[in-house]
Amino acid sequence: MYDFTTDPNLPKPELYRELVGAARAIVDGEPDAVANMANLSALIWQFLPQLNWAGFYRVVDGELVLGPFQGKAACIRIPLGQGVCGTAAANGETQLVPDVHAFPGHIACDAASASELVVPVMRDGQVIAVIDLDSPVLNRFDADDAAGIEALAHAIAAAI
Ligand code: SME
Repeated sequence: MYDFTTDPNLPKPELYRELVGAARAIVDGEPDAVANMANLSALIWQFLPQLNWAGFYRVVDGELVLGPFQGKAACIRIPLGQGVCGTAAANGETQLVPDVHAFPGHIACDAASASELVVPVMRDGQVIAVIDLDSPVLNRFDADDAAGIEALAHAIAAAI
């Protein structure tokens, strides 16, 4: 059993330092990408408040395919360039969306989602996956969240 305790009152940079530390520990020595993404989704879910979806889409044969996640069942395949996830995967840039209803082409997998953060995971200069976080709260994510999930993406890129 893993017992990572979290303090929701920590300032965000510290919370993300702890999340990244826990993530490094949980993937250490484990080569199975599915197992690692499953545990990482669970860690994100445990550490970060106010989420209704957290998980991975992987780039497979030129499109995004659903990976391990926490939350409601979601769209399985997303073309590159479409929606928030497909945009992040196509241009390799973090997408911080304060109001998903104002994002042209947003793909609603859970009607409760109001804001979204999508961070590409890069390996050898290629986008291999994205980490997608959805929140039922408008404007849930800020620059600290983006920087924290980017640090997480960097830390786990070799393990997924
Ligand atoms: N909203 C995403 C689709 C994935 S779900 O949120 C899990 C998008 O627009 O790409």
